[in-house]
Amino acid sequence: MTQRQRWGTRIGLILAMAGNAVGLGNFLRFPVQAAKHGGGAFMIPYFISFLLLGIPLMWVEWSIGRYGGVRGHGTSPGIFSLLWKNKFAKYLGIIGVAGPLAIVIYYAYIESWTLAYAIFSLFGKIPKVTNFQGVGFEEILKPFEGFLTGFTGTGKFFIKPSLFAYLFFVITILINIWVIARGVAKGIEAIAKVAMPMLFIFAVILVVRIFTLGSPVHPDSNALKGLSFLWEPDFSKLLDLNVWLSAAGQIFFTLSIGMGAIMVYASYLREEDDIALSGLATASTNEFAEVVLGASIAIPAAVIFFGYQNAEKIAQAGAFNLAFVSMPAVLSYIPLGNIFGFLWFGLLFFAGITSSLALTQPAMAFLEDEFKIPRKKAAILIGIFIFLSAHIPIFISGALDELDFWMGTFFITLFAGTELIIFFWVFNPKKAWKEINKGADIKVPKFFYYVIRYVTPLIILAIFLGWFIQSGWKNIISGSPGKWIARAYIIMLLSLLAGLVYIAFRRKKE
Ligand code: TRP
Repeated sequence: MTQRQRWGTRIGLILAMAGNAVGLGNFLRFPVQAAKHGGGAFMIPYFISFLLLGIPLMWVEWSIGRYGGVRGHGTSPGIFSLLWKNKFAKYLGIIGVAGPLAIVIYYAYIESWTLAYAIFSLFGKIPKVTNFQGVGFEEILKPFEGFLTGFTGTGKFFIKPSLFAYLFFVITILINIWVIARGVAKGIEAIAKVAMPMLFIFAVILVVRIFTLGSPVHPDSNALKGLSFLWEPDFSKLLDLNVWLSAAGQIFFTLSIGMGAIMVYASYLREEDDIALSGLATASTNEFAEVVLGASIAIPAAVIFFGYQNAEKIAQAGAFNLAFVSMPAVLSYIPLGNIFGFLWFGLLFFAGITSSLALTQPAMAFLEDEFKIPRKKAAILIGIFIFLSAHIPIFISGALDELDFWMGTFFITLFAGTELIIFFWVFNPKKAWKEINKGADIKVPKFFYYVIRYVTPLIILAIFLGWFIQSGWKNIISGSPGKWIARAYIIMLLSLLAGLVYIAFRRKKE
């Protein structure tokens, strides 16, 4: 067996793991989710989910990743068959490779917009607001909406993106593949060590700038109003099942759990490396970036400049609207707006790239571990595959949302449930608990043993059923051509991986 790669340093590992988790979700998805689902009251189901789903699954994924890694397998097909000696185990693991691949084909595209917008800001190519007085907010935002749709393109079925959008996407893929090809320590870790500190610096500068902004038109709108917009609790929302589902969904998404991506990173640990503290450090860093920084930029800025009610409409229109329409409008008006725009989109790009690398690594590890394909060759193969696949969300209307719908909820909960049951029920609960505590720098309270064994799986089951009843079945029976193409793609990807798993493991037996 060839020696598997290893992380270089502990701080590098934590930054890479934090980079994995801290992504576009922290700065775009979280504030919109919170604003839509009861503001401060959302933090109750959110925090409960963090405690009962987030932290347990973080530890579980780290443990099974390390367990598999020291035995030569970094992805779930191999790891599941180590934990469960059954010939079907490896097939349950295909989601852990197919899932991240299906996400990265649209995630990398959105990431490429942030790169493009960072450069556009720097060179002053984004429209400017010159007058806030006596103009409706729709009027102000119109040129920015036009700029965005001109860039990404629109269409009923066929989207025609601008040449720039396509070009920046190609550049983004090339950067990702180049980093991935350099390997875990020299590529992913090296980037994380630069990108993560920069991300935090950019974010802090932006928070300070936003908090000291005065409103050009709404004299009573200030940063405090902006924060109360997000944090004012509406407790009546707690009776709504959807709010609980969204909170759990956000925890899964933001921590990158239930995908096999944390697992792969953990597979480059040494047998005696700590998991308990490092896993907690990763989760806490992510929560700081989300709850403190993510909540304090785009939403307060919208409230300060457009007022309370209009900010509500902006948030309702979604994350892209907040990031690529309302923020540029605000930043174009303030002094040195170009620079602040660059910081905002640069921050998003750093958040994006450290996550897209994590989404690509499972496929890499799969080819390297199970097919012994050399790293550079594997990187090129996967790069071509992602590049070609991305044409679906780039050119076909509705495909991006449909991919996100299936990957972001259905497969995440399914996979989270599977890994948990295999580890804490099928494998052996006592041994699994020992794995979590092996080499640990802190003592994990026994309370979590019971949580992981009983509470977390039940909550996952409840979320799965709740999701299906609330929205899953409605989506399944509805269809547009774009949706069907996305679904066909997912089925094709799963079959392809099932085939590869079959071939890889048959060869091993011979
Ligand atoms: N956590 C990332 C974010 O907040 C998104 C994400 C979800 C992800 N699943 C992942 C990233 C798996 C890497 C791997 O944006």
